[in-house]
Amino acid sequence: MKPRHFLELAEFETAALRDMLDQATAFKGGAANPPAAAGKTLALLFERPSTRTRVSFEVAMRQLGGHCIVLSDRDMQLGRGETVADTARVLSRYVDAIMLRTDRVRKLEELAEHATVPVINGLTEASHPCQLMADIMTFEEHRGPIGGQVIAWCGDGNNVARTWVQAAVRFGFTLRLACPDACTIPGYLLDWARREGGDVSVTSDPRQAVAGARCVVTDCWVSMADDPKRDCRPLASFQVNAALMALAAEDAVFMHCLPAHRGEEVSAEVLDGPRSLVFEEAGNRLWAQKAILAWALG
Ligand code: CP
Ligand code: NVA
Repeated sequence: MKPRHFLELAEFETAALRDMLDQATAFKGGAANPPAAAGKTLALLFERPSTRTRVSFEVAMRQLGGHCIVLSDRDMQLGRGETVADTARVLSRYVDAIMLRTDRVRKLEELAEHATVPVINGLTEASHPCQLMADIMTFEEHRGPIGGQVIAWCGDGNNVARTWVQAAVRFGFTLRLACPDACTIPGYLLDWARREGGDVSVTSDPRQAVAGARCVVTDCWVSMADDPKRDCRPLASFQVNAALMALAAEDAVFMHCLPAHRGEEVSAEVLDGPRSLVFEEAGNRLWAQKAILAWALG
């Protein structure tokens, strides 16, 4: 039987994602821990740094009565050329689930192909599904069901933006993305969203994307997988600031997966302002991932 991998939102039926979000909300409300993960071990593999993902997974696993082993590629023979497939076969004999953060989505896929235990996507250059589970949960806590709402993304068409595309399709909301032509959403993903009946559009005008939106989202100019010397000038006019937020719905919220760069993708005024849900989002990573673990190990 195929292990319960959590790789991409697109691979799930809406109902399965909804069940996980319901469980996340129940955990946050104090629901008892299911026995699924008790005494089990989760390996957290990081080829890139992390604050939220690392700590929230570790705390979630401990709350569930299990434990974690945290490793970077430098700690492992993976960093000296051992294949991902062999690593998967070996780790599957010791641990009950594996989370991987990498900037090569192919490595995640290879890990999932060869592991006999669940593999969880802890961010790749292409997506960040754990983040989006926490983001949907956060939006709904503050503004009710996300289905039918208008969400605007302003900035780089990066891994988080691409996962918002998957989420728009699975959770049935309208997503308007404003991205510079130089770093927009790949055509194959927009084609997929269209085929799936999603309401996803891309513009190069942030004002058009944000007009009347219930939520405005952005992320850093330079992602971990990008060239650190990337030319960010095309992104400057996509900054989420008070003037842009003024075009959104009156009760619009602001979201950002963090880490944030005040004065770049978002003004300090917005990030630290009353509409910002960024720390609620970060907090909900714990509950969302606890639910993902309970599902994967159940
Ligand atoms: N948002 C997020 O994944 O944060 P970390 O890089 O700190 O894990
Ligand atoms: N887009 C960012 C997200 C960090 C959580 C990155 O990939 O670096």
